[in-house]
Amino acid sequence: MVLDNKIEELFSEDRINRRIKELGEVFTNLYDITDEVVVICLLRGGFIFTADLVRNIKRNVLIDFMSVSSYGNETTSSGQLKIEKDISVDIANKHVIIIDDIIDTGLTMKEIKELLLKRNPKSIKTCCLLDKEEGRTVNMSVDYCGFKCPNKYVIGYGMDSCNSYRNLPFIGVLDV
Ligand code: IMP
Ligand code: MG
Repeated sequence: MVLDNKIEELFSEDRINRRIKELGEVFTNLYDITDEVVVICLLRGGFIFTADLVRNIKRNVLIDFMSVSSYGNETTSSGQLKIEKDISVDIANKHVIIIDDIIDTGLTMKEIKELLLKRNPKSIKTCCLLDKEEGRTVNMSVDYCGFKCPNKYVIGYGMDSCNSYRNLPFIGVLDV
């Protein structure tokens, strides 16, 4: 892969992998073998994190995808959430884990959680790889988080800048 040399690495591939193994163990221990668990991946940014995390959860899980948008091509939140693709699995009486790449203002996760709670799941846990706590504009604390993240626009490992860089195996900041 040709890497742009103006990327400063914040979280290495190794460090991400080690943390995901730990999170996988946490979720494995959270549920019983007979529990019905639905993992909901928020597209597109959450796709790599979800793919790696679910392979470390040693339970039978259903996996579905949801797509919302609020950012467009900008690097600050518009504060408007649009559901582009809903899940198709019925979550009533099931345990739900909502997975996103990064939480910034908290709007995305808060609104999705509120929407899914109306469908009567048995429980809902929220999980993100990165938490930009400083960016919060709404009251939203995530249940499980990989790392605290500085208040910078990050790319890689699923996260994009104008849809590029998602396939970087590490997370960094564009040094422009
Ligand atoms: P929030 O609604 O402000 O919490 O924004 C969360 C969403 O914005 C995430 O699902 C990401 O898709 C996107 N996002 C927020 N910060 C970043 C970033 O630093 N890099 C890439 N995407 C980001
Ligand atoms: Mg997103």
